[in-house]
Amino acid sequence: MATVLAIETSCDETGVAIVKNRKVCSNVVASQIAIHQEFGGVVPEIASRHHLEAVNLLIDQALGQAGLTWTDIDGIAATCAPGLVGALLIGITAAKTLALLHHKPFLGVHHLEGHIYATYLTQPDLEPPFLCLLVSGGHTSLIRVLDCGIYETLGQTRDDAAGEAFDKVARLLNLGYPGGPIIDKLATQGNPQAFPLPEGKISRPDGSYHPYDSSFSGLKTAVLRLVQKFERSQELPVNDIAASFQQTVVNSLTKRAIACALDYGLNTIAVGGGVAANSGLRHYLQEAASQHNIQVLFPPLKYCTDNAAMIACAACDHLNRGHTSSLTLGATSRLKIEEVMQLYPGINLEDN
Ligand code: KG4
Ligand code: ZN
Repeated sequence: MATVLAIETSCDETGVAIVKNRKVCSNVVASQIAIHQEFGGVVPEIASRHHLEAVNLLIDQALGQAGLTWTDIDGIAATCAPGLVGALLIGITAAKTLALLHHKPFLGVHHLEGHIYATYLTQPDLEPPFLCLLVSGGHTSLIRVLDCGIYETLGQTRDDAAGEAFDKVARLLNLGYPGGPIIDKLATQGNPQAFPLPEGKISRPDGSYHPYDSSFSGLKTAVLRLVQKFERSQELPVNDIAASFQQTVVNSLTKRAIACALDYGLNTIAVGGGVAANSGLRHYLQEAASQHNIQVLFPPLKYCTDNAAMIACAACDHLNRGHTSSLTLGATSRLKIEEVMQLYPGINLEDN
């Protein structure tokens, strides 16, 4: 029954949380969205500086809100990959220092494993195997969850991630950053059938389509052409474009997730990542899955976007199994989800 304090600094949210197994004792987040908004996206150096300014204060807040002291903490974790290296370094350096100081084990956590674990925070009894649809600013993946640390990527995007597509289309429509929440809101006032847009498909060498991989760059270009057409003539129907774009992304994700779950005999789809907050996806995927007797689990919104509770939750499971990281572990911008166990050296997978 491990209690872990975790730090999340992979992108533009500084998060600190304490989780006792799958129960959240405290979860604090300092968002940098307002700071990066004026640049239209995340500026890595600015993100690192703000993580550095926020992290100590948030650690104190997390302990205070949980009503715990360092003696109650069994392990200290931080997201170590993938993400912005400079930003990740702030979190792992803070965590490693605290681990040394308080004589606690340190655990580096894979950010995507954290997004998978977000579902366990409200569904603590969920048992693998299940399918995770992970849709964030950096990833669009269908991952078969087999056990703690054991994952298989079955589908992914070949170009832009779903959240990235929302952000880029929002920029085309001059809606600001981040694009997902704004498009989501405008889409509710638009007609999703107003403009037929192409759902990207990935061809295989034999001419058939890859059933689980997605592509959103063609869709983004199609929206650009549409915007250019209107710019030449009349006022831009922003709500209809937002609704049509969102519906196309939602159709693409839903179709692939359901096909994958059915093909692999998985009757639960856990959705994670910032795009899991999308109201269209929540509604449409739920409805489509129920027709196939597949249950869909969406974490509450605060656990969909980046937060440290999901990182602490993953770290608890690892610590309960004796998995710990070396204090020499570094931050890495890329690491496959299949390589998670590399973060915990000396563990014999056969024993798990
Ligand atoms: O998981 P996340 O917080 O950070 C990453 O690990 O990338 O995801 C951020 C992404 C952004 O691209 C943002 O536009 C998108 O999630 N997002 C949404 C919504 N809320 C956030 N996309 C669609 N609809 C939303 N309601
Ligand atoms: Zn994320």
